[in-house]
Amino acid sequence: MKIAVFSTKSYDQEYFEKYNTAYDYNFSFFETALNPDTAKLSADCDVVCVFVNDLVNEETIKILSSNGIKLIALRCAGYNNVDLDAAKKANIKVVRVPAYSPEAVAEHALALILTLNRKTHKAYNRVREGNFSLKNLIGFNLSNKTIGVIGTGKIGATFCAILKGFGCRIIAYDISENEELVAMGVEFHSLEEVFKQSDIISLHCPLNQHTKHRVNKESIDLMKSGVMIINTSRGALIKTEDAILGLKDRKIGYLGIDVYEQEENLFFEDLSEHIIQDDMILRLLSFPNVLITSHQAYFTKEAMNQITVITLDNIKDFENNNELTNEVV
Ligand code: NAI
Repeated sequence: MKIAVFSTKSYDQEYFEKYNTAYDYNFSFFETALNPDTAKLSADCDVVCVFVNDLVNEETIKILSSNGIKLIALRCAGYNNVDLDAAKKANIKVVRVPAYSPEAVAEHALALILTLNRKTHKAYNRVREGNFSLKNLIGFNLSNKTIGVIGTGKIGATFCAILKGFGCRIIAYDISENEELVAMGVEFHSLEEVFKQSDIISLHCPLNQHTKHRVNKESIDLMKSGVMIINTSRGALIKTEDAILGLKDRKIGYLGIDVYEQEENLFFEDLSEHIIQDDMILRLLSFPNVLITSHQAYFTKEAMNQITVITLDNIKDFENNNELTNEVV
């Protein structure tokens, strides 16, 4: 099997090579993302392996199909960047890594909350410069605060369990209630009630046509003044321009995002010597109460091990004509 791996960073290559001894696949690693302009690089390969910001649209898929690609192996859980209808028409199967260490993402959501709240990033810089003042570093206790969780699948449920340990009241919205969480004391409410009652709102649902721009002017209007919004799921769950207005009029007290609507032009790259053209992210970065990380919530050793092994197993299943347990249909 020859596999074209797109959006490859040194750490991706390291993990694939580490585990490949058990599979013996032939990899072509490409730093570039997969899109209609780069799809031709898949010539002579059987499989393309892609990540969150590769653009696997109809045009890309047509080129993959003409190159004889038979499998798109996502090395991530979300598949909003793949045109599944076009893949089906082209008779190309799509597989993903549905679960890999939900703890990695849930713990990163907590890291964003604690950092924004207790301002450890600012304290770190201050103390290093000999500034031991506490001015403007005041935080709040998480204990007894109401945390709104939108999407209580694997990551959302793990996040609920962690926040329970902080003594929080957890309220949640999902299209289907999670009975184990109810037994743990999580209250399920309407989306509107979750927006209205929460001190902190954390997004853990997938991006689709129902959830796109779920956080927008209308929903922000419903929220408590000073609310903290955390997004480790997908950027377009938040309408960024509305969040900026919410931050400007102080309705949003804190915003922590690991994902961003236009992240494909920015994230995972060192742009420190470039002139960034995205004015929206620059506006976000200008707020003292906004914390942005570059889609790193998944990035733990445990998660990378699982992503790599599950991706290689998905490809092996395809090669052996086994049932594709992680197929996206
Ligand atoms: P999951 O499939 O286990 O859970 C998703 C939950 O969202 C399910 O309970 C589902 O019923 C619920 N849901 C679906 N439609 C909904 C709607 N319209 N409103 C409310 N809830 C809805 O997925 P998992 O593993 O928990 O991942 C959640 C998301 O996290 C992924 O879709 C992905 O976008 C994101 N993610 C982000 C990562 C990062 O590094 N920042 C890494 C991994 C996942």
